[in-house]
Amino acid sequence: MERQMLRAAMEQLKRKGYLQECNVEVDPKFELGAVLKHYKNEVPILFNKVKGSKMPVVGALFGERSIYYEMLATTHEERVFKLMDAIANPKPTRVLNKGPVMENIITRNIDLQKMFPIPTFHEKDSSSYITAGLVVLKDPETGQSHVSVRRLQVNKGNEISILVASPLATRQFLDMEKQNKPLEVAIVLGYDYSLLLASQISSEVYGVDKYEVDSALRGEPIELVKCHSIDVEVPAYSEIVLEGIMPPNKREIEGPFGELMGYYGAVGPHPIVEVKTVMHRNNPIFQTAFPCREEHLSNGLVREIELYSSVKGLVDVNDVNVTVAGGCRFHAFVSINKKTEGDGKSAIIGALASSKDVKHVVIVDNDVDIFDPTDIEWAIATRMQASKDLVIIPGALGSGLEPSHTVKGVTDKVGIDATKPLGELATRFEKAIIPGYENIDISKYLPGFKLK
Ligand SMILES: Cc1cc2nc3c(=O)[nH]c(=O)nc-3n(C[C@H](O)[C@H](O)[C@H](O)COP(=O)(O)O)c2cc1C
Repeated sequence: MERQMLRAAMEQLKRKGYLQECNVEVDPKFELGAVLKHYKNEVPILFNKVKGSKMPVVGALFGERSIYYEMLATTHEERVFKLMDAIANPKPTRVLNKGPVMENIITRNIDLQKMFPIPTFHEKDSSSYITAGLVVLKDPETGQSHVSVRRLQVNKGNEISILVASPLATRQFLDMEKQNKPLEVAIVLGYDYSLLLASQISSEVYGVDKYEVDSALRGEPIELVKCHSIDVEVPAYSEIVLEGIMPPNKREIEGPFGELMGYYGAVGPHPIVEVKTVMHRNNPIFQTAFPCREEHLSNGLVREIELYSSVKGLVDVNDVNVTVAGGCRFHAFVSINKKTEGDGKSAIIGALASSKDVKHVVIVDNDVDIFDPTDIEWAIATRMQASKDLVIIPGALGSGLEPSHTVKGVTDKVGIDATKPLGELATRFEKAIIPGYENIDISKYLPGFKLK
């Protein structure tokens, strides 16, 4: 029985019937990503035959909300509170002397492209990319582990370019660079739902050790081992670990890369990682993720706790959705239990204040399903008057990760209050319902027929 990380998750997914296996040969260049994309990165697929490699590749594990909840042993209703609790009450980790990831340790002739079936996803991508790599750094002062997903461009041999956009990791690298010292870094492939979710918490905002948040989330200590050549801990049950250094004063051009919103992001000089040691399990499974969508759901789940808390301070929140189509950061749909006139506008203020990245928000009543875009559209069509329900804030700080800005990072914000009025006017907005509709056994009327 596998205990933690990818194989344990895959065993569970297989038992539940969620994991599909592809036994037709696929090319890691474009073809593998095309299959993942075709299924919207929502269907976990194990590719058993990958051209040019003996190693299987697994992808699209993390793109479906309901699977995510099940694998975290939570529910849609409980998700926000489970994560809040884990952040507020991190739990200790367990460091082992040995772990399966140490079964093979390679320190010479490292050529990543030859060793691993690393996919290339889009036409103009500069190279093959490791898209599901958890980058682990250790804070020299606090000893805390910082774990986060970063895109990794495979350059040549043992060299990778790394794009680090977060303040804490950048500061750590620049501090070392000032001292002309390298920063030690491990890249982990073969993790699970809990660790990915913990990795998406901002170090800057919460200042927690993400391994400890993971331990709280999974309900048992995450089991770690020390790396072979650097002072960093990695999950004992991970599949592959690349250990290396980010040397000072060295940059390579990174990109183009088809990224978050489906565009090619900026190309520029970025730090590199020189991989010194590769550790891997026997018969390792290479983990990948189609860029733009699937793993961002985990990022959105963290943003939902921030959205919930921010709106909760002002009005009675029913539910929140940081949408996948909005890159799990630009769009927020919020349903509220409206108590007083003005709640809709207050919720707009709370939602826009939850993160600088939120750009458009829609506030609706609790009779609207915020996970159904047609229900949202219905609410906007029937409960909104632009002259009083549309709020526009020009030129606020936003995220540079979408290309519509005139100035990088500066963006207009929009709030739509699509809640119905209270009091007498509310009767005009009563939804027409069919009694017993929810409980009808529809299969008996047109046996065998399934709506597409
Ligand atoms: C699939 C995926 C890819 C990501 N790629 C990057 C990246 O290339 N660079 C980056 O700085 N952050 C990237 N992120 C975001 C970070 O992983 C995330 O913001 C994390 O919380 C940062 O943690 P930190 O605040 O401890 O640095 C990515 C997130 C996901 C889910």
